Amino acid sequence: MNTTLTSTLRVFDDADGARPLIDTTDRAEIARILGANDIIFERWEAGAPLTAEADSETILRAYAADIERLKRAYGYTTVDVIRVGPATPGLPALREKFLREHTHTEDEVRFFVEGSASFYLRLGGKVYQTICTRGDLLSVPANTTHWFDMGPAPQFAAIRLFVNPEGWVANYTGDDIAARFPKFE
Ligand SMILES: [Fe+2]
Repeated sequence: MNTTLTSTLRVFDDADGARPLIDTTDRAEIARILGANDIIFERWEAGAPLTAEADSETILRAYAADIERLKRAYGYTTVDVIRVGPATPGLPALREKFLREHTHTEDEVRFFVEGSASFYLRLGGKVYQTICTRGDLLSVPANTTHWFDMGPAPQFAAIRLFVNPEGWVANYTGDDIAARFPKFE
């Protein structure tokens, strides 16, 4: 189980992964700092109570209003639910796959229905480590250099929104910056 269960933003100089310049769990502040970089960070409330076993259809129905709002605002056409947990095959390789810095030609938009994971967005000489937990929506705009850590014992369910899922392919930058920043564990 990941021990960090509070939504957190840490802003680092991209040359120094040891000391964050900002370290906050204030969601309004997180939204303000990320918003200044055109990154969406929102809190969503389920329209109906959800159990841990809720299937994709139930999850999508519970958040239908927010999903529709984002679709209209940003042109997302496709929505699905991804679940990662102890039973997911090939977990170490799956974690590894997104741990290296990469980009996509598509926005990476994730809403955390349960569990948590950490995104690292590299923008303007800074790294924005954003730990998302239940109820958080985060967008990584297309072509933003970033990496993603689901932790050593991944456990999360997330709604994904796409303009075109084909565009969501990792293009690795070849930079080993992720190795110089704290992992999510
Ligand atoms: Fe990504």
